[in-house]
Amino acid sequence: MLKKISVKRVQIGMYVHLKDVSWFEHSFLRSKFLLKEKIEIANILGIGCDYVYYDPAKSSTEPLAIDTLISRSAPKKGAKEIKKKKASALKKRKEEFIETEKKFYASALKADEIMQGILSGRTCYGEKAQQMSHELAVIFSADVQATLNLINFSAEEEGLYYHSLNVSILSCMLGKELGIGESDMKSLAFGALMHDLGKSKIPKKILFKQGAFTKSEVKMIQMHPLFGVGLLSGMKTVDRDVMKIIYHHHVRRDGTGYPSQIAFDKVSLLPKIVSIIDIYDNLINNRRVEKSLTPHQALATIYGKWAAKLDENILGHFIRMLGIYPPGSICRLDSGEIALVVSIGENPLLPDVILYDSDVPKNDAMILTLGVDIDSKIDKILSPKDLNPSELAYLSPKSKIGYSAEVKS
Ligand SMILES: [Fe+2]
Repeated sequence: MLKKISVKRVQIGMYVHLKDVSWFEHSFLRSKFLLKEKIEIANILGIGCDYVYYDPAKSSTEPLAIDTLISRSAPKKGAKEIKKKKASALKKRKEEFIETEKKFYASALKADEIMQGILSGRTCYGEKAQQMSHELAVIFSADVQATLNLINFSAEEEGLYYHSLNVSILSCMLGKELGIGESDMKSLAFGALMHDLGKSKIPKKILFKQGAFTKSEVKMIQMHPLFGVGLLSGMKTVDRDVMKIIYHHHVRRDGTGYPSQIAFDKVSLLPKIVSIIDIYDNLINNRRVEKSLTPHQALATIYGKWAAKLDENILGHFIRMLGIYPPGSICRLDSGEIALVVSIGENPLLPDVILYDSDVPKNDAMILTLGVDIDSKIDKILSPKDLNPSELAYLSPKSKIGYSAEVKS
């Protein structure tokens, strides 16, 4: 429970809350924090307010017994300017996020239209799909961090081919990391977009069944690589590498995949890339949101449960590409605050984050580098289901929640 005290009673060790002061009127990067230095007290006095709140439960000391009029340090010069600069840098970064997001939604709609076109048997859509997937490879490789944020929050979407889109984009990122050439990149983008096309031949009541599958249902589902190849076989523009991605994306190193007669060492690089990304996206974007894992959990699961089934070298590159705290991870800091990882800087343990702070409007929340802008580190990774709706809406990188007006326009 917060207590209101005269601003002249604050001292080091108190957890203060600048509750009634606009975020723009003070120089601090957060509106509640533990006082650690004299300069911070001087900056609080410099705001010009008469009182401040503090949280006794989070404080290691009591307020001073009486008002103390002595200025204990000179206010830090330029702190507000630094904050202003950070705010404008963040605004620019957020605009880049919105741009990437608009492209992502446009691509999702286009992918949906193309898939429907292919399924209706119109060959012209084969060319359209190829063209689109080549564009995807270029567009989303340009801003990897913003794209990863969007991919990590795709589970709530229904009806569109987000999984195919995610797999295509992430596969291209991994392909780039592995240094594959332009021609292979085009096949990878297209094949990854089409990898599960064959599932359209499987009755929905089987595909989306909640309980355990019967043996014949499993057999039917395992036919989807073959169905996919069949659906694209009439399209002249589809090359062999694309077909291999579709046909081989469930072949596993330990022989547990399908089609089972194919040896893993006979499978080429591109299907092996897609198989890792396919598993990862299914883990983070489960159809049932409560079952979705965080990017961090998904990586741990792949490493622990799937490593023996996948290509070790490609998996190693993938894990390095995403880092310890992949963008889109929601975490609790050692200060108790909740934050969203938005990008990885020089130190993978101290990424750039957005803090949840109900006193700061979402649009003004800044991207802060842990250990540099604020003296905090990640304590625990959270799952979106650990957050209440307002925390989730605040931290979701998707502007459709926070900036719906812009997206609709
Ligand atoms: Fe599949």
